[in-house]
Amino acid sequence: MSARPELWIPGPTEVRAEILAELARPMIGHRTAEMEATIASLDAGLRALFGAGEHHEVAVHSVTATGLMELALRAVGPRVLCVVNGSFSRRFAEVGRALGKQVEVVETPLGTGADLEAARELLGAGAPFDAVTVCASETSSGVFTAPSEIGAILTPEARRGARLLVDAVTLLGAGPLDVERHRIDLALAGTQKALALPPGLGLFAASRSMLEAAPSSESYFLDARRIVETHRARKPPMTPTIPLLRALEAQLAAIADGELEARLDPGGPSAATGWERRFARHASMSARTRRFAAETEGVRVFGAEGVATSPAITALEIEGRSVPELLAGMTEDGFRIGAGYGELKTSCIRIGHMGDHPPARLEALLGCLAARLRRT
Ligand SMILES: Cc1ncc(COP(=O)(O)O)c(C=O)c1O
Repeated sequence: MSARPELWIPGPTEVRAEILAELARPMIGHRTAEMEATIASLDAGLRALFGAGEHHEVAVHSVTATGLMELALRAVGPRVLCVVNGSFSRRFAEVGRALGKQVEVVETPLGTGADLEAARELLGAGAPFDAVTVCASETSSGVFTAPSEIGAILTPEARRGARLLVDAVTLLGAGPLDVERHRIDLALAGTQKALALPPGLGLFAASRSMLEAAPSSESYFLDARRIVETHRARKPPMTPTIPLLRALEAQLAAIADGELEARLDPGGPSAATGWERRFARHASMSARTRRFAAETEGVRVFGAEGVATSPAITALEIEGRSVPELLAGMTEDGFRIGAGYGELKTSCIRIGHMGDHPPARLEALLGCLAARLRRT
């Protein structure tokens, strides 16, 4: 039994020793040239991550992704349509209601894809909406709704003025996102998932047109325009999570450089950029986990037949075994994996194959899982 099990839950995930060392560096003031340089250094990586072009701004805010959901909804008018297919897509609706928005929901059961066609119909019929929300990688079920599909169905014409707000929490850093091409007005994520950093920092890209048209946010802290403007000036309006900013700087540089990816997956596509290698590694770990399910008796990928699964998380339905016993056994073997979410707690497990996990460690994990399944 290892002293501390490796973290393979659906987030937070393992943080590399080099990044932990960044976090331990002596503190600096946030009104310093050093801090300004750190914030400025983030933009190239953030732009690559979000696929931000000339129509989008990128920014960081010392708040988790849920805070950014509120920031996004404060930047749009009162009528919001939420596409719900699990607990995190439902959270957007809950945040909207908490803000007093008029929230309508298009809901499909856990394990199905987001019903974008139904949302398109609703957007096209009757009174217009100010915003539509979608979750790309539904962490509660492992179901994936690709940004390309979101953008192709919820086009600006189909939305009739509604802003497109996308939760990219378990997508960012695991797979490509292109807010420019897919005409996404605001995409948001935190740091504790596929970027393999501690939690506590929010990242987002927002369209300039949305920022210009945003109504009063009625918030000092969660005001998209203020956060974007102060990010551009490299002068955060409040004391930011300085260690996390420095950790993000180090991580973005390490990924772009390509050396980290070469180390994590020496067999990965060598001609590709660091980002492409990272996305390829996540896609291959996701495919490997699905293959494991297909080859293992009593195990199947959770969800509707043929539904797409996340590059970062796979939920597996386990038949005829005690899930709590299986999870305890895996912890003894040195791998902490997640239980199913909510009502799936005793029927499913979730594996967070994301961040800086090497495919070789996933092989080790699946080997232990196969052995535990035989014994449990
Ligand atoms: C898809 C998704 N959205 C939103 C959140 C909320 O993020 P946070 O807890 O960092 O606010 C999570 C957290 O797991 C998530 O997986």
